[in-house]
Formats: sequence, C-alpha cells, structure tokens
Amino acid sequence: MREQWTRSGFLLAGIGSAAGLGNIWRFSYVAGENGGAAFLIIYLLAVIFIGLPLVIAELAIGSKGRDDAVATLRHEAPTGHWYIAGGLSVVGAFFILGFYSVIAGWALKYFIGAADGSLWAPQQLNAYSAYFEGFIAKPFEPLGWQLLMITLTTAVVAGGIRNGIEAVNRLLMPLLCLIVIGLAAYSLSLDGAEKGLDFLFSPDWSAFTRPSVYIAAIGQAFFSLGIGMAIFLTYGSYLDPKQSITKSASIIVLGDTLLAITAGLAIFPAVFAFGIDPAQGPELAFITLPGLFSQMPGGRLLGTLFFGLLAGAALTSMFSILEVPSAYLARRLSCSRRKATLLAAGLSFIAGIPPALGFGVFEQMTIGGQNLLDSYDDAISHVLLPTGGILIALFTGWGWGKSRALEAAGLSNSQLGSFWFFSLKYIGPVVVLTIFIAA
Ligand code: TRP
Repeated sequence: MREQWTRSGFLLAGIGSAAGLGNIWRFSYVAGENGGAAFLIIYLLAVIFIGLPLVIAELAIGSKGRDDAVATLRHEAPTGHWYIAGGLSVVGAFFILGFYSVIAGWALKYFIGAADGSLWAPQQLNAYSAYFEGFIAKPFEPLGWQLLMITLTTAVVAGGIRNGIEAVNRLLMPLLCLIVIGLAAYSLSLDGAEKGLDFLFSPDWSAFTRPSVYIAAIGQAFFSLGIGMAIFLTYGSYLDPKQSITKSASIIVLGDTLLAITAGLAIFPAVFAFGIDPAQGPELAFITLPGLFSQMPGGRLLGTLFFGLLAGAALTSMFSILEVPSAYLARRLSCSRRKATLLAAGLSFIAGIPPALGFGVFEQMTIGGQNLLDSYDDAISHVLLPTGGILIALFTGWGWGKSRALEAAGLSNSQLGSFWFFSLKYIGPVVVLTIFIAA
C-alpha cells in the first residue's frame, strides 16, 4: 500500500515545501531589485491566476495517479507523450536541488556562525561583503555545507512520508512561523520602518511598464510555490483521497504567500531604517542583513533566529524536491526508498557542484556574463519551471479531458471548476508563453 499523509501533516508538508529560500532570500532580493510594491502586485496576480490553478492541477493529477511523476502521466494519458513532462521534472529536480542546496548550505553556515559567535567577528556594517565573498570563493567549504544540507534532507526523506517528511515538518513549521512573525514585529518597531512599508506597499506605477518586472514576478511565483516540477503531483500521490484538493491547495498557496510577505516585513523595514538600498541582488540576505544585525541591540540573537529560519525553511523545501526523483527511482529500479533517496541525493549533489564553486574554482566560467549560480537560478525560474508549468496545464486542459480533470479535482458541475479548467487550457499557457517570448 502506498503511504498516506495525515490531513494536517499534508498541509504542513505542503506549506513547508512551498515556503523556503524562495520566500525569504529570493523574494526579498527580487522585490528589492524590481521596485517593491509594483512587483508585489503582479506577483500576487500570478499566484492567484496561474499558481493556484497549477497547484490544484498537480494535486489532482497526483492523487488520481497515486504513482511517481512519470508513471502517473503515462497511465493517466496513455495516448501522447505526456510522461516526458514527468521525466523533465525528475531530471530538473537534480539541478534544482543541487542549486538550492548551495544557498541552503550558506544559510546553515551563517546560522551556526551566528550561534557560535564567529559570524559576528567583523562587527561592522560594511565588513560583510568581504566575509561573504571570502567564504564563497573557498574551494571546499561551501561544498561541505551543501553536502551537510543534502545529507540532512536525505536522512529525513529516507524515513518515509509520515515518519520522515511529515514528522519533521510538524516540528519545524510552527517554529519557523513564530520566528518570522517575531522578526517582522521587531523590524516594524524600528525607527524609520515606514519607508520599508512604503516600498513594499505603495507602487511606483512606472514599474508596470517594464516587461522585466512581469518576468521576475511570474518566475518568483513559480519558484516560491514550487510548481512545474511535479512536486505537488508527487506529494499529492500520498494524499488521503477524502481530503479536499481545492481547500488544501488554497491553504498551501495562502500560507506560502503570507510567509513571503511576513519575511518582507521582517527585512525591508530594517533595511530602510538603516538607510540601505534594497536593490542589492542575491547578496541581500548574506551581506546586508548580517551587517544590520551586527549594529542592532540584540542583533546576535535576531541574526541567529533569522539564519535558523532560513536554513530550516530551506530544509523543509528540499524534502519535496528530493521526493520527486526518489519516488521515480524507487519504482523504476524496484529498490527501497532508502536506496532511491540516496542515489537521487548523490546525483543532486553532483549537479550542484558547478554553482557551488562558481565563485571560486569555476569563477572564470560564466554564461552570458553571469556566474554559474545566477545562471542556474535563471534557467530554473525562467525556463525550467515555466516550461514544466505549461506542460502540466496543457496536459490537464488537452491531454486529460475536462470531465476527468474536474472529477479528480473535486470540481465537477461547478462554475469555479469550469473557470479553473479554462484557465489551465488557455489562459495560463498563453499568458506565460507570451510574456516569456516577449522577453
Ligand atoms: N518553493 C520553495 C521555495 O520557495 C522551493 C521549492 C520547493 C521549489 N520545491 C520546488 C522550487 C520545486 C522549484 C521547484 O524556496
């Protein structure tokens, strides 16, 4: 018998998957680079009209198929070659996890350093770029932290759905929510916090005319929800058939969005209170924020909590990424979950070596002027995930057929169901394709 989540366990694991580095590290720097509020509005629209329908679709397909991504797409649509989309997800997962674990490893290093005090040695607001750049240029240290994060992930995923993934999410998610709320409350209490709120909530209307803002917002919606890579399809294959798909999807999407906004409320008021430009790029969390913490009363504790949050949130997301290839390999090779997980983790680690060393050993290797880590990020958020998302939408709209899709989603005979189906069949693919081709 296939394992099954408990109801609350599934919701926690789903939010745990969605809420991660994307909500804290990536959301804050992409919002920072793309003008704040205008970006936030487009991002929210993308989450509601493209993201939510796709989460519902993935869960519906997964809970109907009750198998890994490739097998499910093969038997749900025996004609056509939709299973290739499943294969894309399995292969994509190696690269996503490889890339993701690099930054997760940085977060873990900063967390341990903040706790044992070594992170606070530089003491000055401006000393952290040298600290960070020195660290990521080292030949082995970043790889070691990355390997540690992957090992932790593997240990949990090998433990299974209920005793591994669900149990750890049950422990970590409430803690992470408390931390992010506490940090936001503190940040909002700083003098000058209003400027951060302005940035996040009063749009600069001219930003709406910049196509790059749309691409950034849609890419962020895909990344932050973690859609297009069969994650919800795979997690959905362990769903209790009696659990409502639309309700679960809505709760997960809402949870992910609230966590991103709360993380924004933790970061931007503090950044503005210290008069810092928010458009720092990916280094915002690793250079700007430690500098701020080192200047704040109680900053060491706050910094430890922040990087603990970052590493913990990353970990619960890594479970879901690893589950996709693990489920596939276990079936394909008819081997135990343990063996499949170990193999998938090993391949992911290898896929993550280039971006991990992109600032040191492989510094000379750039793609279009970008370092390897940023190139991975670009390829994932702006090519791989949207492509996977379009394929899932097309499968649902064209490959699966309306009555089966509506039945699987629990939306038969409802207007909402017709709208959901229409948006997957036409709106999502057309909008995403147009925007990405226009770019
Ligand atoms: N959504 C997670 C985050 O925001 C990352 C993640 C989990 C992900 N599963 C994914 C990203 C699948 C891409 C694809 O950090």
